[in-house]
Amino acid sequence: GSYAGLGEVGGKRILVRSDLNVPLDGTTITDDGRIRASVPTIKALADAGARVVVTAHLGRPKGELDPAYSLAPVAARLGELLGQDVAFATDTVGESARQVVAGLADGQVAVLENVRFNAGETSKDDAERGAFADQLAGLADAFVSDGFGVVHRKQASVYDVAQRLPHAMGGLVAAEVDVLRRLTVDPERPYVVVLGGSKVSDKLGVIDNLLGKADKLLVGGGMVFTFLAAQGHEVGKSLLEEDQLDTCRDYLRRAHEAGVELLLPTDIVVDTEFPSGDRTPAPGVVPASEIPSDSLGLDIGPDAAADYAKALADARTVFWNGPMGVFEVDAFAAGTRAVAEALTKVDGLTVVGGGDSAAAVRTLGFDEAAFGHISTGGGASLEYLEGKELPGITVLLDEEE
Ligand code: 3PG
Repeated sequence: GSYAGLGEVGGKRILVRSDLNVPLDGTTITDDGRIRASVPTIKALADAGARVVVTAHLGRPKGELDPAYSLAPVAARLGELLGQDVAFATDTVGESARQVVAGLADGQVAVLENVRFNAGETSKDDAERGAFADQLAGLADAFVSDGFGVVHRKQASVYDVAQRLPHAMGGLVAAEVDVLRRLTVDPERPYVVVLGGSKVSDKLGVIDNLLGKADKLLVGGGMVFTFLAAQGHEVGKSLLEEDQLDTCRDYLRRAHEAGVELLLPTDIVVDTEFPSGDRTPAPGVVPASEIPSDSLGLDIGPDAAADYAKALADARTVFWNGPMGVFEVDAFAAGTRAVAEALTKVDGLTVVGGGDSAAAVRTLGFDEAAFGHISTGGGASLEYLEGKELPGITVLLDEEE
Protein backbone atom coordinates (compact mmCIF):
# COMPACT_ATOMS: atom_id res chain seq x y z
CA GLY A 1 0.00 0.00 0.00
CA SER A 2 1.04 3.62 -0.40
CA TYR A 3 0.93 6.73 1.77
CA ALA A 4 0.47 10.21 0.30
CA GLY A 5 3.83 11.84 -0.36
CA LEU A 6 5.84 8.66 0.22
CA GLY A 7 4.57 6.20 -2.36
CA GLU A 8 4.84 2.50 -1.55
CA VAL A 9 5.34 1.90 2.18
CA GLY A 10 4.64 -1.85 2.35
CA GLY A 11 7.48 -3.63 4.16
CA LYS A 12 9.24 -0.35 4.94
CA ARG A 13 10.12 0.96 8.40
CA ILE A 14 8.29 4.28 8.76
CA LEU A 15 9.22 6.59 11.65
CA VAL A 16 6.16 8.62 12.68
CA ARG A 17 6.53 11.67 14.94
CA SER A 18 3.24 11.97 16.83
CA ASP A 19 2.26 14.33 19.64
CA LEU A 20 1.22 11.95 22.41
CA ASN A 21 1.81 14.52 25.16
CA VAL A 22 -1.32 13.82 27.21
CA PRO A 23 -2.20 14.82 30.78
CA LEU A 24 -1.50 12.05 33.29
CA ASP A 25 -2.52 11.53 36.89
CA GLY A 26 0.19 9.12 37.99
CA THR A 27 0.00 6.54 35.19
CA THR A 28 -3.67 7.24 34.41
CA ILE A 29 -4.35 9.20 31.22
CA THR A 30 -6.91 11.89 32.04
CA ASP A 31 -7.55 13.00 28.45
CA ASP A 32 -6.56 10.79 25.52
CA GLY A 33 -7.57 13.26 22.79
CA ARG A 34 -4.09 13.54 21.34
CA ILE A 35 -3.68 9.76 21.20
CA ARG A 36 -7.00 9.37 19.40
CA ALA A 37 -6.06 12.15 16.97
CA SER A 38 -2.82 10.29 16.18
CA VAL A 39 -4.50 6.97 15.39
CA PRO A 40 -5.66 7.56 11.76
CA THR A 41 -2.14 8.19 10.38
CA ILE A 42 -0.63 5.27 12.30
CA LYS A 43 -3.48 3.01 11.23
CA ALA A 44 -3.27 4.07 7.57
CA LEU A 45 0.44 3.23 7.53
CA ALA A 46 -0.04 -0.11 9.31
CA ASP A 47 -2.92 -1.01 6.98
CA ALA A 48 -0.65 -0.22 4.04
CA GLY A 49 1.79 -2.83 5.35
CA ALA A 50 4.38 -0.48 6.84
CA ARG A 51 6.38 -1.34 9.96
CA VAL A 52 5.39 1.68 12.02
CA VAL A 53 7.83 3.14 14.55
CA VAL A 54 6.22 5.91 16.61
CA THR A 55 8.36 8.51 18.36
CA ALA A 56 6.91 11.08 20.75
CA HIS A 57 7.57 13.04 23.93
CA LEU A 58 5.78 13.31 27.26
CA GLY A 59 6.21 16.39 29.40
CA ARG A 60 9.55 18.09 29.82
CA PRO A 61 12.02 15.62 31.36
CA LYS A 62 15.60 16.87 31.63
CA GLY A 63 17.24 14.92 28.80
CA GLU A 64 17.69 11.73 30.81
CA LEU A 65 15.60 8.72 31.78
CA ASP A 66 12.89 9.67 34.28
CA PRO A 67 10.25 6.99 34.98
CA ALA A 68 7.64 9.62 35.85
CA TYR A 69 7.61 10.59 32.15
CA SER A 70 7.53 7.12 30.62
CA LEU A 71 5.39 6.67 27.50
CA ALA A 72 4.52 3.10 28.56
CA PRO A 73 0.91 3.92 29.60
CA VAL A 74 0.47 5.91 26.39
CA ALA A 75 1.70 3.01 24.25
CA ALA A 76 -0.79 0.72 26.02
CA ARG A 77 -3.66 3.12 25.31
CA LEU A 78 -2.58 3.45 21.67
CA GLY A 79 -2.77 -0.34 21.37
CA GLU A 80 -6.33 -0.34 22.73
CA LEU A 81 -7.41 2.38 20.30
CA LEU A 82 -5.72 0.71 17.33
CA GLY A 83 -7.12 -2.67 18.30
CA GLN A 84 -3.74 -4.32 17.84
CA ASP A 85 -0.68 -5.07 19.93
CA VAL A 86 1.81 -2.22 20.16
CA ALA A 87 5.40 -3.10 20.99
CA PHE A 88 7.21 -0.76 23.41
CA ALA A 89 10.94 0.00 23.42
CA THR A 90 12.32 0.98 26.82
CA ASP A 91 14.79 3.37 25.20
CA THR A 92 14.59 5.64 22.15
CA VAL A 93 17.58 4.75 19.97
CA GLY A 94 19.40 2.11 22.06
CA GLU A 95 19.50 -1.67 22.23
CA SER A 96 15.80 -2.02 23.06
CA ALA A 97 14.71 0.27 20.20
CA ARG A 98 16.88 -1.59 17.68
CA GLN A 99 15.55 -4.97 18.80
CA VAL A 100 11.91 -3.89 18.83
CA VAL A 101 12.16 -2.35 15.36
CA ALA A 102 13.99 -5.38 13.97
CA GLY A 103 11.22 -7.60 15.35
CA LEU A 104 8.36 -5.74 13.61
CA ALA A 105 6.45 -7.57 10.90
CA ASP A 106 4.61 -5.71 8.11
CA GLY A 107 1.58 -3.90 9.57
CA GLN A 108 2.90 -3.93 13.14
CA VAL A 109 3.40 -0.88 15.35
CA ALA A 110 6.02 0.02 17.96
CA VAL A 111 6.37 3.03 20.26
CA LEU A 112 9.81 4.24 21.33
CA GLU A 113 10.34 5.52 24.88
CA ASN A 114 10.08 9.31 25.50
CA VAL A 115 12.30 11.02 22.93
CA ARG A 116 13.11 13.76 25.48
CA PHE A 117 15.03 11.24 27.64
CA ASN A 118 17.83 12.09 25.17
CA ALA A 119 19.62 15.42 25.59
CA GLY A 120 20.14 15.66 21.82
CA GLU A 121 16.40 15.97 21.15
CA THR A 122 15.96 19.50 22.48
CA SER A 123 19.58 20.68 22.28
CA LYS A 124 20.17 24.18 20.91
CA ASP A 125 23.43 22.91 19.47
CA ASP A 126 22.88 21.88 15.85
CA ALA A 127 25.63 19.25 15.92
CA GLU A 128 24.36 17.61 19.11
CA ARG A 129 20.80 17.59 17.80
CA GLY A 130 22.00 16.30 14.44
CA ALA A 131 23.93 13.43 16.02
CA PHE A 132 20.79 12.29 17.82
CA ALA A 133 18.70 12.72 14.66
CA ASP A 134 21.19 10.45 12.84
CA GLN A 135 20.48 7.72 15.38
CA LEU A 136 16.71 8.14 15.11
CA ALA A 137 16.83 8.21 11.31
CA GLY A 138 18.95 5.03 11.41
CA LEU A 139 15.92 3.14 12.72
CA ALA A 140 13.75 3.82 9.65
CA ASP A 141 13.49 4.07 5.87
CA ALA A 142 11.21 7.12 5.79
CA PHE A 143 9.64 9.73 8.08
CA VAL A 144 6.07 10.96 8.54
CA SER A 145 5.63 14.19 10.50
CA ASP A 146 2.26 14.01 12.26
CA GLY A 147 2.82 15.69 15.64
CA PHE A 148 1.08 18.99 14.99
CA GLY A 149 1.46 20.04 18.65
CA VAL A 150 5.25 20.11 18.27
CA VAL A 151 5.76 21.55 14.77
CA HIS A 152 6.78 24.89 16.36
CA ARG A 153 9.76 23.15 17.99
CA LYS A 154 13.08 22.94 16.18
CA GLN A 155 13.87 19.57 17.75
CA ALA A 156 15.62 16.47 16.44
CA SER A 157 12.52 14.26 16.05
CA VAL A 158 10.52 17.09 14.48
CA TYR A 159 13.01 18.99 12.36
CA ASP A 160 16.44 17.40 11.90
CA VAL A 161 15.15 13.91 11.18
CA ALA A 162 13.15 15.23 8.20
CA GLN A 163 16.44 16.34 6.65
CA ARG A 164 17.78 12.82 6.90
CA LEU A 165 14.98 10.66 5.51
CA PRO A 166 12.45 10.73 2.67
CA HIS A 167 9.52 12.42 4.39
CA ALA A 168 5.86 13.34 4.16
CA MET A 169 3.35 15.44 6.06
CA GLY A 170 0.96 13.25 8.06
CA GLY A 171 -2.81 13.55 7.72
CA LEU A 172 -3.24 15.24 11.11
CA VAL A 173 -0.70 17.98 10.41
CA ALA A 174 -2.23 18.57 6.98
CA ALA A 175 -5.74 18.87 8.43
CA GLU A 176 -4.66 21.23 11.23
CA VAL A 177 -2.79 23.53 8.87
CA ASP A 178 -5.77 23.60 6.54
CA VAL A 179 -8.13 24.80 9.29
CA LEU A 180 -5.72 27.41 10.64
CA ARG A 181 -5.25 28.77 7.16
CA ARG A 182 -9.00 29.39 7.02
CA LEU A 183 -8.67 31.53 10.18
CA THR A 184 -5.98 33.70 8.66
CA VAL A 185 -6.93 34.01 5.00
CA ASP A 186 -10.11 36.01 4.63
CA PRO A 187 -12.09 34.70 7.65
CA GLU A 188 -15.85 35.06 7.45
CA ARG A 189 -17.05 37.94 9.69
CA PRO A 190 -17.78 38.64 12.45
CA TYR A 191 -14.54 36.96 13.54
CA VAL A 192 -14.42 36.55 17.31
CA VAL A 193 -11.35 35.43 19.25
CA VAL A 194 -11.63 34.19 22.82
CA LEU A 195 -8.39 34.11 24.77
CA GLY A 196 -7.93 32.68 28.24
CA GLY A 197 -5.30 30.84 30.20
CA SER A 198 -3.13 32.09 32.96
CA LYS A 199 -0.59 34.44 31.46
CA VAL A 200 -0.70 37.45 29.16
CA SER A 201 2.96 36.86 28.43
CA ASP A 202 2.08 33.59 26.64
CA LYS A 203 -0.37 35.36 24.34
CA LEU A 204 1.46 38.58 23.40
CA GLY A 205 2.24 37.57 19.84
CA VAL A 206 -1.22 36.35 19.07
CA ILE A 207 -2.95 39.40 20.59
CA ASP A 208 -0.59 41.63 18.61
CA ASN A 209 -1.42 39.87 15.38
CA LEU A 210 -5.16 39.46 15.92
CA LEU A 211 -5.82 43.06 17.01
CA GLY A 212 -5.70 43.92 13.33
CA LYS A 213 -7.76 40.96 12.14
CA ALA A 214 -10.49 39.99 14.60
CA ASP A 215 -13.70 41.97 15.14
CA LYS A 216 -13.96 41.08 18.81
CA LEU A 217 -11.47 39.85 21.37
CA LEU A 218 -12.90 38.32 24.56
CA VAL A 219 -10.47 37.96 27.44
CA GLY A 220 -10.77 35.44 30.28
CA GLY A 221 -8.59 33.36 32.60
CA GLY A 222 -5.74 34.62 34.73
CA MET A 223 -4.79 37.15 32.04
CA VAL A 224 -7.80 39.23 33.00
CA PHE A 225 -6.18 40.61 36.13
CA THR A 226 -3.22 42.21 34.44
CA PHE A 227 -5.69 43.95 32.09
CA LEU A 228 -7.87 45.06 35.03
CA ALA A 229 -4.82 46.36 36.89
CA ALA A 230 -3.77 48.19 33.71
CA GLN A 231 -7.13 49.96 33.87
CA GLY A 232 -6.32 51.01 37.43
CA HIS A 233 -8.33 48.44 39.38
CA GLU A 234 -7.22 46.62 42.51
CA VAL A 235 -6.97 42.87 41.87
CA GLY A 236 -6.32 41.57 45.40
CA LYS A 237 -4.34 38.33 45.42
CA SER A 238 -5.15 37.54 41.77
CA LEU A 239 -2.46 36.56 39.30
CA LEU A 240 -0.74 39.73 38.12
CA GLU A 241 2.10 40.22 35.68
CA GLU A 242 3.52 43.59 36.69
CA ASP A 243 5.90 43.62 33.74
CA GLN A 244 2.99 43.38 31.28
CA LEU A 245 0.96 46.32 32.57
CA ASP A 246 2.24 48.69 29.90
CA THR A 247 1.68 46.09 27.20
CA CYS A 248 -1.93 45.64 28.33
CA ARG A 249 -2.49 49.41 28.31
CA ASP A 250 -1.09 49.49 24.81
CA TYR A 251 -3.45 46.68 23.68
CA LEU A 252 -6.46 48.46 25.16
CA ARG A 253 -5.50 51.65 23.32
CA ARG A 254 -4.79 49.88 20.02
CA ALA A 255 -8.04 47.91 20.18
CA HIS A 256 -9.91 51.14 20.69
CA GLU A 257 -8.15 52.81 17.75
CA ALA A 258 -8.65 49.83 15.44
CA GLY A 259 -12.35 49.58 16.33
CA VAL A 260 -11.84 46.09 17.75
CA GLU A 261 -14.12 45.31 20.66
CA LEU A 262 -11.85 44.09 23.46
CA LEU A 263 -14.10 42.68 26.16
CA LEU A 264 -13.02 42.18 29.77
CA PRO A 265 -15.31 40.52 32.32
CA THR A 266 -17.50 42.87 34.35
CA ASP A 267 -17.73 40.41 37.24
CA ILE A 268 -15.43 37.81 38.71
CA VAL A 269 -15.77 34.63 40.76
CA VAL A 270 -13.36 34.93 43.69
CA ASP A 271 -12.20 32.90 46.66
CA THR A 272 -9.71 33.64 49.43
CA GLU A 273 -7.43 30.78 48.39
CA PHE A 274 -6.47 28.92 45.23
CA PRO A 275 -8.41 25.62 45.23
CA SER A 276 -6.51 22.69 46.68
CA GLY A 277 -7.45 19.11 47.44
CA ASP A 278 -8.18 19.39 51.15
CA ARG A 279 -10.19 22.61 51.13
CA THR A 280 -13.85 23.13 50.18
CA PRO A 281 -14.06 26.10 47.77
CA ALA A 282 -15.94 29.16 49.04
CA PRO A 283 -16.71 31.04 45.81
CA GLY A 284 -18.19 34.53 45.74
CA VAL A 285 -19.08 36.90 42.89
CA VAL A 286 -17.83 40.50 42.86
CA PRO A 287 -17.73 43.32 40.30
CA ALA A 288 -14.42 43.26 38.38
CA SER A 289 -13.62 46.70 39.78
CA GLU A 290 -14.10 45.59 43.40
CA ILE A 291 -11.96 42.52 44.01
CA PRO A 292 -11.34 42.40 47.79
CA SER A 293 -7.71 42.57 48.89
CA ASP A 294 -7.89 39.14 50.57
CA SER A 295 -9.33 37.41 47.45
CA LEU A 296 -8.22 36.16 44.09
CA GLY A 297 -10.16 35.77 40.87
CA LEU A 298 -10.66 32.18 39.68
CA ASP A 299 -13.31 32.47 36.94
CA ILE A 300 -15.24 35.07 34.99
CA GLY A 301 -18.56 35.90 36.68
CA PRO A 302 -22.11 35.06 35.51
CA ASP A 303 -22.74 38.48 33.94
CA ALA A 304 -19.49 38.24 31.99
CA ALA A 305 -20.34 34.70 30.88
CA ALA A 306 -23.67 35.97 29.53
CA ASP A 307 -21.95 38.93 27.81
CA TYR A 308 -19.44 36.62 26.16
CA ALA A 309 -22.15 34.21 25.01
CA LYS A 310 -23.97 37.18 23.47
CA ALA A 311 -20.80 38.42 21.76
CA LEU A 312 -20.39 34.97 20.21
CA ALA A 313 -23.99 34.55 19.10
CA ASP A 314 -23.65 36.14 15.65
CA ALA A 315 -20.04 35.11 15.00
CA ARG A 316 -19.21 33.33 11.71
CA THR A 317 -15.62 32.49 12.64
CA VAL A 318 -14.35 31.77 16.17
CA PHE A 319 -10.95 30.86 17.54
CA TRP A 320 -10.82 29.94 21.22
CA ASN A 321 -7.62 29.33 23.17
CA GLY A 322 -7.41 28.99 26.93
CA PRO A 323 -9.97 28.33 29.68
CA MET A 324 -11.88 31.19 31.35
CA GLY A 325 -11.15 29.97 34.86
CA VAL A 326 -9.93 27.05 36.95
CA PHE A 327 -12.34 24.71 35.14
CA GLU A 328 -10.88 21.59 36.76
CA VAL A 329 -12.73 22.64 39.93
CA ASP A 330 -16.50 22.68 39.53
CA ALA A 331 -16.96 25.91 41.51
CA PHE A 332 -14.83 27.77 38.93
CA ALA A 333 -15.92 26.00 35.72
CA ALA A 334 -19.04 27.98 34.79
CA GLY A 335 -17.28 30.61 32.66
CA THR A 336 -15.44 28.02 30.58
CA ARG A 337 -18.62 25.97 30.28
CA ALA A 338 -20.60 29.03 29.10
CA VAL A 339 -18.04 29.86 26.41
CA ALA A 340 -17.94 26.24 25.22
CA GLU A 341 -21.74 26.15 25.14
CA ALA A 342 -21.86 29.38 23.13
CA LEU A 343 -19.35 27.97 20.64
CA THR A 344 -21.51 24.92 20.00
CA LYS A 345 -24.29 27.24 18.82
CA VAL A 346 -22.19 29.28 16.39
CA ASP A 347 -23.20 29.03 12.75
CA GLY A 348 -19.76 29.07 11.15
CA LEU A 349 -16.22 27.83 11.68
CA THR A 350 -15.33 27.21 15.34
CA VAL A 351 -11.79 26.26 16.22
CA VAL A 352 -10.74 25.24 19.71
CA GLY A 353 -6.98 25.48 20.03
CA GLY A 354 -4.71 24.52 22.84
CA GLY A 355 -4.29 21.47 25.01
CA ASP A 356 -6.11 23.11 27.95
CA SER A 357 -9.18 24.35 26.14
CA ALA A 358 -9.43 21.11 24.17
CA ALA A 359 -9.19 19.11 27.40
CA ALA A 360 -11.72 21.49 28.97
CA VAL A 361 -14.44 20.83 26.39
CA ARG A 362 -13.95 17.10 26.78
CA THR A 363 -13.74 16.97 30.58
CA LEU A 364 -16.78 19.26 30.87
CA GLY A 365 -18.65 16.62 28.90
CA PHE A 366 -19.22 18.40 25.58
CA ASP A 367 -19.62 16.41 22.39
CA GLU A 368 -16.52 17.06 20.30
CA ALA A 369 -18.61 16.87 17.15
CA ALA A 370 -20.36 20.11 18.20
CA PHE A 371 -17.15 22.04 17.48
CA GLY A 372 -15.84 22.61 13.98
CA HIS A 373 -12.31 21.67 14.84
CA ILE A 374 -10.51 20.85 18.08
CA SER A 375 -6.82 21.44 17.51
CA THR A 376 -4.22 19.18 19.10
CA GLY A 377 -1.77 22.06 19.19
CA GLY A 378 -1.58 24.74 21.86
CA GLY A 379 1.66 26.63 21.30
CA ALA A 380 1.77 25.45 17.68
CA SER A 381 -1.65 26.85 16.75
CA LEU A 382 -0.87 30.13 18.54
CA GLU A 383 2.44 30.51 16.71
CA TYR A 384 0.72 29.77 13.41
CA LEU A 385 -1.81 32.54 14.13
CA GLU A 386 1.01 34.88 15.14
CA GLY A 387 2.27 34.47 11.60
CA LYS A 388 5.47 32.81 12.78
CA GLU A 389 7.32 30.26 10.74
CA LEU A 390 6.88 26.73 12.09
CA PRO A 391 10.19 24.85 11.66
CA GLY A 392 8.50 21.43 11.59
CA ILE A 393 6.35 22.54 8.64
CA THR A 394 8.98 24.52 6.74
CA VAL A 395 11.38 21.60 6.79
CA LEU A 396 8.77 19.47 5.00
CA LEU A 397 7.86 22.06 2.38
CA ASP A 398 11.29 23.41 1.51
CA GLU A 399 12.54 20.17 0.17
CA GLU A 400 9.36 19.22 -1.60
CA GLU A 401 9.57 22.25 -3.86
C1 3PG B 1 2.19 20.76 23.86
O1 3PG B 1 1.80 20.18 24.88
O2 3PG B 1 1.81 21.91 23.55
C2 3PG B 1 3.09 20.03 22.91
O3 3PG B 1 3.08 18.67 23.15
C3 3PG B 1 4.47 20.62 22.97
O4 3PG B 1 5.05 20.43 24.22
P1 3PG B 1 6.23 21.42 24.69
O5 3PG B 1 5.61 22.76 24.92
O6 3PG B 1 6.79 20.80 25.96
O7 3PG B 1 7.26 21.47 23.59
